[in-house]
Amino acid sequence: MVRRAALVALLFALGACKSTKAPPARDIASLEDATTCRPCHAAIVEEWQGSLHATAHADPIFRGLRELRSKKEEDLDAKCAVCHAPVKSTDGVTCFACHATASLHTGPGRGSNLLSWSKTGTLYGPSDLPEDRTPVHGTAKAPAHMKDGASLCLACHGDLANASEVPLCQTATEWEATKTTKTCVDCHMQAAKGAATVATTKVEHRSHRFAGPRGLWTKTSTAVAGLGMVGLRVDRADDAIEVHLENRTGHAFPSGFPGRFAKVIATAGEWRQEVLLGKRYVDAEGNPVIAAYGVKIAADTRLTPGETRVVKLMPPKGAGPVDVKVVHGLLPPPLAEKIGLHGELTELRVIATAKVE
Ligand code: HEC
Ligand code: HEC
Ligand code: HEC
Ligand code: HEC
Ligand code: HEC
Repeated sequence: MVRRAALVALLFALGACKSTKAPPARDIASLEDATTCRPCHAAIVEEWQGSLHATAHADPIFRGLRELRSKKEEDLDAKCAVCHAPVKSTDGVTCFACHATASLHTGPGRGSNLLSWSKTGTLYGPSDLPEDRTPVHGTAKAPAHMKDGASLCLACHGDLANASEVPLCQTATEWEATKTTKTCVDCHMQAAKGAATVATTKVEHRSHRFAGPRGLWTKTSTAVAGLGMVGLRVDRADDAIEVHLENRTGHAFPSGFPGRFAKVIATAGEWRQEVLLGKRYVDAEGNPVIAAYGVKIAADTRLTPGETRVVKLMPPKGAGPVDVKVVHGLLPPPLAEKIGLHGELTELRVIATAKVE
């Protein structure tokens, strides 16, 4: 009997011991705020602040389109928020949105519906860390989605279709179609100088600028280094010129938001010819509409994954040297007009140039 009582007491003591040793209660609300991370992950916080993820909830093109569509559709804010403002309406894709993700679901939902966030204040990264490396947040072993370079990204960047089941974003399918072994992280989170965490000795970390084409407009994030978006070469072939376009991205070019487009513009004196690389959505009558209301993609002339395309153009005889450039645009001019967008974001940016005599 005595021994049994002692055992019970011991079990009690162990239980008590366990509860005093339980991880400190973490302030989840403060972990949702990126400024909390600055003292210890300064370089990463600064990069992220200049990225489109930080402003995904406030981006003027996003807001303009949301407002336009909300004239026809109900509950739009919540539908967009799962990817553009997954944690709160006043924030974009925050550190917490990605790093509190303990596990990833597969299923019909998108964005935050697929992300299971830690309720204990543990943050997950790509390293297998022992518990409690810092009093501020929990640390743990790296979950698979933090190491494979793509599955976390595809929770939001994966394929998306409109109500008529016409594809909008197709980045996932496109990436799978490339023969590249490179992941989203390999190209979009390249190594940058500086330690990821204060007081660690690593001299490099994964950049959190999430470099993409928008950097050409905002000048905050740089392009994906060492790639360029399209390779351009121009040759003469008898009376014609041959424009060689090489897709250097890891998916179609352009990818993602269906309004993105590029144009090849060739000029020689008065002569000018343009070739569009983009998608055109139409309604049931065949009239052009925004992607969300399309019943069909009438044309998709984007560069396919890994494609090198040769486009033949015919300048008039004796036209002299031909200048060729590739320009990139963020959204179709009629859409910019509809959402009242003016200024820099409606301009085209030159991404490649070439000339033949
Ligand atoms: C499944 C996740 C997801 C949902 C839901 C979603 N978006 Fe997006 N959206 C994205 C991603 C990822 C991008 C970035 C793609 C790119 O850069 O091309 C994006 C980009 C955009 C852009 C382009 C912004 C720019 O940089 O020019 C607009 C506009 C936009 N979304 C509008 C909306 C609206 C309006 C809704 C709600 C009806 C919505 N999105 C719902 C994931 C989503
Ligand atoms: C008081 C300092 C401190 C603060 C504040 C802090 N962290 Fe950490 N964090 C650390 C330390 C220390 C580690 C362990 C680093 C190591 O051992 O390599 C760590 C690790 C991490 C990791 C895992 C890195 C990996 O390589 O797997 C992530 C992700 C992370 N922190 C995110 C955050 C976020 C997001 C915030 C803000 C909400 C934050 N941290 C705030 C100190 C801090
Ligand atoms: C081989 C490298 C590579 C891989 C792999 C890759 N990308 Fe890209 N991606 C690029 C380049 C290059 C661009 C063009 C932008 C630039 O250079 O600024 C781009 C552009 C984008 C854009 C902007 C699309 C637009 O036109 O607005 C998004 C969004 C994107 N990538 C997401 C992803 C996702 C998600 C993955 C993984 C499924 C991925 N990328 C894989 C190289 C890559
Ligand atoms: C869109 C998702 C996303 C967001 C937002 C994000 N991260 Fe990360 N972060 C990642 C991924 C993915 C990795 C791991 C990349 C790899 O090594 O494969 C990573 C790596 C890290 C690491 C380890 C870096 C290294 O190179 O050792 C730290 C620390 C970290 N993030 C902190 C932060 C902080 C702080 C913020 C907010 C300012 C933040 N992250 C925002 C996705 C994100
Ligand atoms: C919670 C949803 C979410 C996750 C997870 C996410 N993204 Fe994004 N990402 C977005 C949204 C939304 C935008 C577009 C913001 C806008 O323009 O309004 C975006 C924009 C981008 C851009 C900028 C493209 C441009 O046009 O310049 C790149 C690059 C990118 N994401 C890469 C990644 C990578 C790599 C990962 C995985 C490590 C990732 N994203 C994970 C939602 C997400």
